[in-house]
Amino acid sequence: MTMSLSLPLVKMQKLHKSYGPIQVLKGIDIEMKPGERVVVIGPSGGGKSTLLRVMMGLEKIDSGSISFEGNSYISSEAADRKTLIDTEVRRSIGMVFQHYTLFPHLNVLQNLVLAPCKVRGEPKAKAEARAEALLDRFGLGAKAKAYPAQLSGGQKQRVAIARALMLDPKLMLFDEVTSALDPELVSEVEHVILQLAAQNMPMMIVTHDMWFAKNIASRVIFCAGGVVVEDGPPEQVLGAPREERTKEFIDRVFHIKQ
Ligand SMILES: Nc1ncnc2c1ncn2[C@@H]1O[C@H](COP(=O)(O)OP(=O)(O)O)[C@@H](O)[C@H]1O
Ligand SMILES: [Mg+2]
Repeated sequence: MTMSLSLPLVKMQKLHKSYGPIQVLKGIDIEMKPGERVVVIGPSGGGKSTLLRVMMGLEKIDSGSISFEGNSYISSEAADRKTLIDTEVRRSIGMVFQHYTLFPHLNVLQNLVLAPCKVRGEPKAKAEARAEALLDRFGLGAKAKAYPAQLSGGQKQRVAIARALMLDPKLMLFDEVTSALDPELVSEVEHVILQLAAQNMPMMIVTHDMWFAKNIASRVIFCAGGVVVEDGPPEQVLGAPREERTKEFIDRVFHIKQ
């Protein structure tokens, strides 16, 4: 028992990833403890989305490895993608993207129950009951029968989060989930993520919203040029950065906001 408590939830070692001649990840080492909420900030094109996609097994890596609760589930050694992803682990991680990814021909409830029924063979009635409870919790109880096209951007993202939670993930990844939203819809989505944080859901969040970053992070990582430039508590990285590159970035982002 004590052993598993001290194990890192995620351990990334020496991750390298290129797209053709472009080196995107140049040796990333990140260890995440259970219960941590890591906010990743950094300039556009710095490899933040690639990092999250690699963790989900959506992109192949060139070298390095990632383990989850002590099990290596992604490595560059395996020859093809099928063997390099442990699907059990992969299902323990939920991800929500910047752009809406709901199935347009399915209503909200059908979107939520699809994976649990198909992947886990969960009885439909049971999955629907869980889905309805989640929708209620996220203020979407009245939208169960609505189709994605009938929802606002904020509602769609809340449904996407609920859908990811249906597989009981042990880790949630959020990649700029409010970036495509009208400003007045941002807080309803952030509120749902803050609700999950209050329940100690481990998460890794890429965001440009510094208010949100400050409020949700237990730790902030500044990533630029494919490496971790600075990694520490939010008071340090956002409030009093030690690295010049972090300082420049924070000054710029806060300046734009004002
Ligand atoms: N599928 C891809 N094919 C080729 N280049 C890509 C692909 N995805 C991302 N890139 C490039 O990799 C770099 C990092 O991108 P990304 O991880 O999206 O950065 P961020 O999320 O920090 O903005 C960028 O230069 C981007 O153009
Ligand atoms: Mg990105």
